[in-house]
Amino acid sequence: MSKPPILFATCPPGLEGVLDAELARHGFRSREIKPGGVHFRGSPLRANRLLATASRVLLPVARFKATDFDDLVAGASAVDWSPYGGVTPKVSAARSRLFHTGAVAERLGALLPAGDTALYCRLMHDRCTLQIDTSGEHLHKRGWRTETGQAPLRETLAAQILALAGWEPGVPLVDPCCGSGTFIIEAAVQAAGLAPGRLRSFACERWWRSELVPTGDAVPTILRGSDRSKAAVAAARHNAERAGVAVDLQVASARQVEAPAPTGLLVANPPYGRRAEDLATAWDELGALLAGPFAGWKAAILSPERGLARRLRREPETRYHLRNGGLNVDLLILPPA
Ligand SMILES: C[S@@+](CC[C@H](N)C(=O)[O-])C[C@H]1O[C@@H](n2cnc3c(N)ncnc32)[C@H](O)[C@@H]1O
Repeated sequence: MSKPPILFATCPPGLEGVLDAELARHGFRSREIKPGGVHFRGSPLRANRLLATASRVLLPVARFKATDFDDLVAGASAVDWSPYGGVTPKVSAARSRLFHTGAVAERLGALLPAGDTALYCRLMHDRCTLQIDTSGEHLHKRGWRTETGQAPLRETLAAQILALAGWEPGVPLVDPCCGSGTFIIEAAVQAAGLAPGRLRSFACERWWRSELVPTGDAVPTILRGSDRSKAAVAAARHNAERAGVAVDLQVASARQVEAPAPTGLLVANPPYGRRAEDLATAWDELGALLAGPFAGWKAAILSPERGLARRLRREPETRYHLRNGGLNVDLLILPPA
């Protein structure tokens, strides 16, 4: 059997280590961390179905020097495009003589068969890289979330946060501001040994052989989400049903939440932005949980500003700078009290 191709899984800057660890856990080899992602060898369909923390999986098809349009045309013409159907070029350029991204896209578009598969063309220091998008829609679209509450998290970000907090199946998990249930459902899918991408299709299915991605072992895990909004909990229930996982969801204000075990991970993306009074209440309630019933628990809290984080009454042991919905946010990892 011929070797599977070298692929490039992308992720937000700073999260390459998390993605690399996930690739290693699934047995993908020949891994090499690069800014913004990880190179590895494997089946694109398997990678798209299995990876919870990747944004996209790209297939590099050419890399060459390009200082003018003749170089670009020669480099792109050397690739056999027939397996991929048609492509739509998406160009980015930095520190290169070919800097006009619109003109580069036009030239590639005139040269290559047109179609739905995205072709990423990246020009950097006069080096051109051409990569086929094997994913199609961004990988946070798992296919189960059709209902959202207030400011839902991307599923990929939820999986990255769980990994940064060191959560793994078997560790009790509570989200007292669960909204549409993203953390709890992501964790439940992992605990059930299911592939995060099993409910959707991927661009590579147009040209890659279909294959079975086996289910992993299920690990019994306490997974509990609650929110004071009835509508949010109803949305979370529907989402969990569509994701095919059983989780414990309740309507409750954060201050009413009880710890279901002596230790575990409390994770939260508490409200921020509007209505200062409501915000202070929610963050104070979380602070009371962390000082009270959840004193023995580690916590991972997504915080948009230091003023609110002070209300948690625990000092973070680690602070990760992340982006959520176009905003800079800090992920605070708080050790047990
Ligand atoms: C930013 S949203 C969470 C979004 C969630 N991570 C998701 O992906 O859908 C914050 C949630 O906190 C809830 N909330 C606000 N104050 C609360 C409180 N005092 N107790 C419990 N939940 C609260 C809101 O109803 C909202 O659903």
